[in-house]
Amino acid sequence: MKEVIYLDHAATSWPKPPAVGEAMLHALDVAGANPGRGSHRMAVQASRVLFDTRKVLSSLFGISNANDIALGSNTTEALNLAIQGHLREGDHVIATMAEHNSVRRPLEYMRRIRNVEVDYVPVNAAGDIDLVQLERLFRPNTRLVVCTHSSNLLGSILPIGEISLISRKYGATFLVDAAQSAGIMPVDVQQLGIDMLAFPGHKGLLGPQGTGGLYIAPELDLEPLLHGGTGSQSEAIEQPLVRPDRYEAGTPNTVGMAGLAAGVKHVMELTPEAIYKHEWELTQHMMQGLSSVAGIRMLGPELGQPRTGLVSFTVEGYDSAQLAFQLDRRYGIAVRSGFHCTPLAHESAGTTLSGAVRASVGYSTTSQEIDALIHAVNELTMPR
Ligand SMILES: Cc1ncc(COP(=O)(O)O)c(C=O)c1O
Repeated sequence: MKEVIYLDHAATSWPKPPAVGEAMLHALDVAGANPGRGSHRMAVQASRVLFDTRKVLSSLFGISNANDIALGSNTTEALNLAIQGHLREGDHVIATMAEHNSVRRPLEYMRRIRNVEVDYVPVNAAGDIDLVQLERLFRPNTRLVVCTHSSNLLGSILPIGEISLISRKYGATFLVDAAQSAGIMPVDVQQLGIDMLAFPGHKGLLGPQGTGGLYIAPELDLEPLLHGGTGSQSEAIEQPLVRPDRYEAGTPNTVGMAGLAAGVKHVMELTPEAIYKHEWELTQHMMQGLSSVAGIRMLGPELGQPRTGLVSFTVEGYDSAQLAFQLDRRYGIAVRSGFHCTPLAHESAGTTLSGAVRASVGYSTTSQEIDALIHAVNELTMPR
């Protein structure tokens, strides 16, 4: 029995499949040495853990060479490596108003220190963009297009296949933020023409916190974010060119990666297609149930339209942080409230002042848990 009704999967998935914790304990016991820094058996065992994680991730994302994945701590680190590592003085970037601060802040930092120019394509109330508007923004110096696969506030799914084709036409590199889609819907870098894919380990891939990664197409050479020990080419004063060492300085989170591999295996058994269907059905159930709440406004795609497993809403006359607090304290329901690290998406949705409550589901969420949320929101907003 779960003690809480956990509807905050868009932040971090919970609970994890039991195999995740088991794999972590096992790695700690039998592969607890430093990978790539020795030739004794336990060091080799630790290297194998990382290799295995890269392998399962490659197979999930359609990546042909597992060494094109740089393992790291989270999506934010991956996005920083992609953005800071790729952009040069005077480049132009196109992003969208659906971006998370983990894209926007590095871009604005690049604007400040490297004179990079940035345009954000507007997002409509459904969380979608106009591709004609996007195409009009290309300039001769457009070097990067960044797009979130799915908005963490609106749940909308952006047309990354089409954006990839347009980016290719203008010779720009295409970076996708898969924080809200990895493991939750099919993502194949070859089919979708993605040059760089930033993903978290701790959300839809069901791994522990402190894990994530970046796929980097073989033809790209990013400037590393970190310089330091790799266990390889120790005599060289520069960071090695060989992947993945080039992008993985310092001792990695081997135990976390063992958990991530187990999480990804679980996702592959269930299949991202089935997970998407399960989560979509739950969001439809949630939207139908919440529609009877007086003064409610649900953000993002209409009922019946594609969306990832989250529904954000406001209720007129109620503070979203207060509502979330009451849901937790009185009903044991964990949701996220306030502002969701995406100010431009709040601007598009008209929730810059109010913030929003976000309920997000996962592979293990049940329809009964959604019923409990609907009941609680109805009760909390009942006229007294
Ligand atoms: C769309 C999006 N991008 C980036 C991030 C940052 O992810 P992480 O916490 O793994 O760094 C999040 C986190 O919620 C997100 O939703």
